[in-house]
Amino acid sequence: MEKFTITTTNDQYDVLIDYGLRHQLDTLCRSILEGRKKALIISDTKVYPLYGEEVKKSLARLLPVAHVTVPNGERAKSLEVYRDLLTTCIEEELDRNSIIIALGGGVIGDIAGFTAATYMRGIPFIQVPTTLLAQDSSVGGKTGINHPLGKNLIGAFHQPSAVVYDIDMLQTLSDKEWLSGFAEMMKHAYIQDPNYLAWLKEHVNTLDDIKKPSIRSSIRRSMKIKATIVEKDEKEAGIRAFLNFGHTLGHALEKVSGYGELTHGEAVACGMLFAMRLSNTLQLSTWDIEEEKAWFQAIGYPVDIVFQYEPEALIEAMRLDKKRTSKGLTFVLLKKAGEPMIQTVKETIVRQLLQRKEASS
Ligand SMILES: NC(=O)c1ccc[n+]([C@@H]2O[C@H](COP(=O)([O-])OP(=O)(O)OC[C@H]3O[C@@H](n4cnc5c(N)ncnc54)[C@H](O)[C@@H]3O)[C@@H](O)[C@H]2O)c1
Repeated sequence: MEKFTITTTNDQYDVLIDYGLRHQLDTLCRSILEGRKKALIISDTKVYPLYGEEVKKSLARLLPVAHVTVPNGERAKSLEVYRDLLTTCIEEELDRNSIIIALGGGVIGDIAGFTAATYMRGIPFIQVPTTLLAQDSSVGGKTGINHPLGKNLIGAFHQPSAVVYDIDMLQTLSDKEWLSGFAEMMKHAYIQDPNYLAWLKEHVNTLDDIKKPSIRSSIRRSMKIKATIVEKDEKEAGIRAFLNFGHTLGHALEKVSGYGELTHGEAVACGMLFAMRLSNTLQLSTWDIEEEKAWFQAIGYPVDIVFQYEPEALIEAMRLDKKRTSKGLTFVLLKKAGEPMIQTVKETIVRQLLQRKEASS
C-alpha cells in the first residue's frame, strides 16, 4: 500500500492508496471512527449502486451508518442539493461526534466536504475518492459548491480526517473520466516536476497507457506534489495558486459549454495549452506548442474545442471566476516545466489568442 501523511497548520491526516481498500475502512480508519455516534455516507446515484453497500458494510462493523445519494455530475454542486444534504444531516440526527464519508469523485468530495465544513460549524469527514481526478481534489481541504454565476464561488477550507483511495474502483470509470483525471496529473508535473513530466511523456501516449498498473505510483507522485504545495500554503495565499494552472480558461470553458458537456479535466487540458501559448506570446517561454499539442491530442484531449466558443463569452466567464483584477485576467503561466508564475494579462491579448487557431502563436 502507498501511504503518506499530510501536515497542515491544525491538521494531520493519512493518504492511503491501494487496490481493495473499500472493504477495510473499519480497520484502516479505526482510530478515527471508533466511538463516534454515526457515519453518513454521501455519494452519487452512479457510484453508490456500484460500491456503496460494500463501503457501508465495512463501516457498519464499527458504528451505525446511514447513506444519502445526490444526482451524479457537476449539477450536484448546487445550493439546492447542499440544502437537502443539510436537511438529511438534521434528520439523521448527526452531531459533532458524527462523521461524513464522501464516497465519489471530485463533485462528491467538494459538496460532502462543504456539508461537513458547515454543518454544526464543522464535523469531520473522510474522503473515499472514486475517480482518477479525485487524486487531486481529495487532498488539500478545498470544499465548495457552485453559484449560478460561477464555479466554486461558495466554499470553505476543511481538511479531511483521512483519504482512503481504493483504486480498484477506477475500473468502472468511463474513458472520458480517465482522461479528465489524467489532465490534473499532467498539471502537477508541468508546474512542479520536470522529471515526472518527462516520465509521463515517455510512458503515457494513449488513453490505454493511463489505465496501466503504473498508475498507482503516478497517483502517489501526483498526490505528493499537491500535498507538498498545500502543506506550504494551506489557504492559497501564495504558491497554492499555481495549482490553478489551466483553470482560468478551463473554468470558463466548463461554464460556457454548459457544465457537464466538457469534463473538468478536458477543460483544464485546453486551459493548460492556452496558458502555454500565452506564456510564449508574452515572451516568457519558448514552448514548442505543436509538440505539446500533439501529446495532448494523442492522449485524446479535444484541444481545438476552445475555438468553437465565442471569445467574448469565455472572457466574460473568466471575469466572473475570481480571476479578474483591475488590470486584466489572472493566469498561471509557465516559464518552463517546474517554473510557474502568476500574471495578470490584458483582456485584449487574451481575446486575440482566443481568436487565433494557429498553435504556435
Ligand atoms: N477541491 C479541490 O481541490 C478540487 C480539485 C480539482 C477538482 N475539483 C472539482 O472536482 C469536480 C470534478 O471531479 P470529478 O471529475 O471526479 O467529477 P464527478 O465527481 O462528477 O465524477 C465524474 C463522473 O464519474 C462518475 N463516477 C465517479 N466514480 C466512478 C466510478 N468509480 N465508476 C464509475 N463512475 C464513476 C460520477 O458519478 C460522475 O458521473 C469538479 O467539480 C471540480 O471543481 C475540486
